[in-house]
Amino acid sequence: VLRTWSLRTSELRGARACRNTTMSVESVQTKAFQDQKPGTSGLRKRVKVFQQDHYTENFVWATLQAMKAPSAKGSTLVLGGDGRYYGIECAQKVLKLCAAAGVNKVIVGQNAILSTPAASNLIRKYKADGGILMTASHNPGGPDNDFGIKFNVANGGPAPESVTNDIFNITKTMSTYSIAQLPDLDLSKIGSYKHGNLQVDVVDSVSDYVELLKSIFDFALIKKFLNENPSFKFLFDGLSGVTGSYGQALFLGELGLSKDSVQNATPLPDFGGLHPDPNLTYAHDLVERVEKDQVTFGAASDGDGDRNMIIGKGVFVTPSDSVAIIADWAHVIPYFKGGLKGLARSMPTSGAIDRVAKAKGVEGFEVPTGWKFFGNLMDADRLSICGEESFGTGSDHIREKDGLWAIVAWLNIIAAANESHKGWNIKDILQAHYTKYGRNFFSRYDYEEVDSNGAGKMIDHLQNSFASIQGAQLKATTSDTRFTVKETGNFSYTDPIDGSVSKNQGLYVVFSDGSRIVVRLSGTGSAGATIRLYVEKYSTEKGEYQQDAQVGLKPLIEVALQLSKLQEFTGREKPTVIT
Ligand code: G6P
Ligand code: ZN
Repeated sequence: VLRTWSLRTSELRGARACRNTTMSVESVQTKAFQDQKPGTSGLRKRVKVFQQDHYTENFVWATLQAMKAPSAKGSTLVLGGDGRYYGIECAQKVLKLCAAAGVNKVIVGQNAILSTPAASNLIRKYKADGGILMTASHNPGGPDNDFGIKFNVANGGPAPESVTNDIFNITKTMSTYSIAQLPDLDLSKIGSYKHGNLQVDVVDSVSDYVELLKSIFDFALIKKFLNENPSFKFLFDGLSGVTGSYGQALFLGELGLSKDSVQNATPLPDFGGLHPDPNLTYAHDLVERVEKDQVTFGAASDGDGDRNMIIGKGVFVTPSDSVAIIADWAHVIPYFKGGLKGLARSMPTSGAIDRVAKAKGVEGFEVPTGWKFFGNLMDADRLSICGEESFGTGSDHIREKDGLWAIVAWLNIIAAANESHKGWNIKDILQAHYTKYGRNFFSRYDYEEVDSNGAGKMIDHLQNSFASIQGAQLKATTSDTRFTVKETGNFSYTDPIDGSVSKNQGLYVVFSDGSRIVVRLSGTGSAGATIRLYVEKYSTEKGEYQQDAQVGLKPLIEVALQLSKLQEFTGREKPTVIT
């Protein structure tokens, strides 16, 4: 401790006990850490890393210092997280650092809990200057797993790179931070408190968010449908992540479904040892129960509530189809009654939504992987609905993707479809979509934790091969299917709003029949490199609409593996996850 000083709080309104008291602030000497570079999803590290002396304080202090106008002083911030291990300790530190930095008010979710979409909503609703989100998304939690801190800006979306770069630069050289000497604040009780000079509003974590969804969707119609169709079996799996509480409030509270309509719906600090990522691999409990118990509609969300998966008995909705279908049915969702401003997807996501944009006569954008790229388009009123193949779907109601939003959107669509087509379920909606637009078969192969060097060489090899394969005919390994190379490239994006350019966003090869392969390195992996291989084939053959995607895509995958020499460069025979 270098020195301590006192700030008079006599001018403060609020709790009587604080009047004429002083808040002492310590200036703490610290050492800079060199590994605090936040990605777009914030700083994600093992809990043990965050628990090192000063590690959390340094990063939060740097974040507060990097805040753009208005600076931290006098600002209002939102604070909450996905309930994972270390969240409460972190929240207490954040509050004391905020008090020292002169933040005016922090709106905290009860028990420091807020899903990522709920936090984005609070920032917008209460016109806060930003928010500190304590989450590592779908990464496992607990003392030996991950924690994360992410800063969102005033539009409710993740901080842009200009801000995260500033944070990183500060963390690399800082030598002190200031922290208020205050006892921990009880975050379990809703209310408004004076915490030294800081006003802390502890708010219900769920109610504002439920209110938001009720203002977007036709809850009356969904309720009517559920009442009239008792055989429609719904099951939501919270994967013991933060959406358990939100799911209970929505599905049991608002929609009046029975208790067994939700599972793993109590948020746990270690997610019950589960990997809280909603895909066919990690949400296997749900997949099994849907098959075994004849569930009509199964859905899951991830640890912090921004991802989603929708399945039915014998049917899986690929996220690329999901966003296209939500866009196509937007007219039944009250929020979109005024029409769509535009639609968008990330580059590796299938082109299904492009066809919907065309049919509706609205702009369709293709952005690099990362939700942040949608924010500018939304702020400029050019985008309503967007999604990514990585189980992210959402709209301009907030500036994060939103798992429960997608699930309720599907319920709204099914309820509306049943008004004219009695008995329609997920499968019927998918088939109707394919009949109208054709089907974009899509799959992603992940090779996780491969040697970074090998992964880099593979990417170089593929890119170097582009010059020589133009127009070449490539044959699948186990069949006679052939593909003619039409176009190759490394995706580059120029933001239509601010003109910023993002290069090297993924290699693609497009074939003459419209099929496509995309290869890129994940930007979110935590160990080694993760290679993602995406394959897409468009079909208007009615006979193929019911086909398993893996069957339909096999020849293309074989060609992708030949072209990339992935097995040779990485030593991997098989992917670790297929979605
Ligand atoms: C996070 C981001 C998404 C992104 C996904 C996969 O969920 O918010 O925007 O699509 O990670 O990213 P990656 O770089 O690992 O493919
Ligand atoms: Zn997430």
